[in-house]
Amino acid sequence: MNKIKILDKEFEVSIKENEIQAAVNKMAVRLNNELKGKEVIFIGILNGSFMFASDLFKQITLDCRITFVKVASYQGTISTGTVKSLIGINENIKGKVVVVLEDIVDSGETLENIISQLKGYEPETILIATFLFKPNAFKKSFKIDYVAIEIPNDFIVGYGLDYDGFGRNLPEIYTLVK
Ligand code: IMP
Ligand code: MG
Repeated sequence: MNKIKILDKEFEVSIKENEIQAAVNKMAVRLNNELKGKEVIFIGILNGSFMFASDLFKQITLDCRITFVKVASYQGTISTGTVKSLIGINENIKGKVVVVLEDIVDSGETLENIISQLKGYEPETILIATFLFKPNAFKKSFKIDYVAIEIPNDFIVGYGLDYDGFGRNLPEIYTLVK
């Protein structure tokens, strides 16, 4: 199945399952080596990171924990408009090494907001591990410590990523056909 249709748009396969697994495993090897002996807590960002987090975590050999958070957008009562808050952060991360697991970093806006909120919980370090990274779209200056695969500035779906809620179940990455 090389081409698929989701709602009104056509997508074609761009990253195969074996390439995804190899890149995720490679990241796990690095994490296992570089974080040996540390008190690590992985924090997956829902919804998109669930598949990546699951595959990666199975390859992690550290004594560590995992939790998931979600960024909720809602209209505040104040006039500044949309407020984004981190929900579900109930683990104590103070003094620990936090590894944030994200599906994709595009402009970096979402992650910048998450990082600033996590800093309030006083972890020792915050490391960023993303499955996909669009270097040509990135507008921020924070460091991305672990990238599984760099991709061009195209819209993609699959492996947890969606188009209007659909396509998350695809085991491969599909790119929008222009
Ligand atoms: P950013 O804030 O611009 O970095 O965008 C990050 C969020 O936008 C990700 O967590 C995704 O949920 C979503 N996103 C960015 N690019 C894509 C894409 O190509 N396909 C699906 N979702 C995307
Ligand atoms: Mg996301």
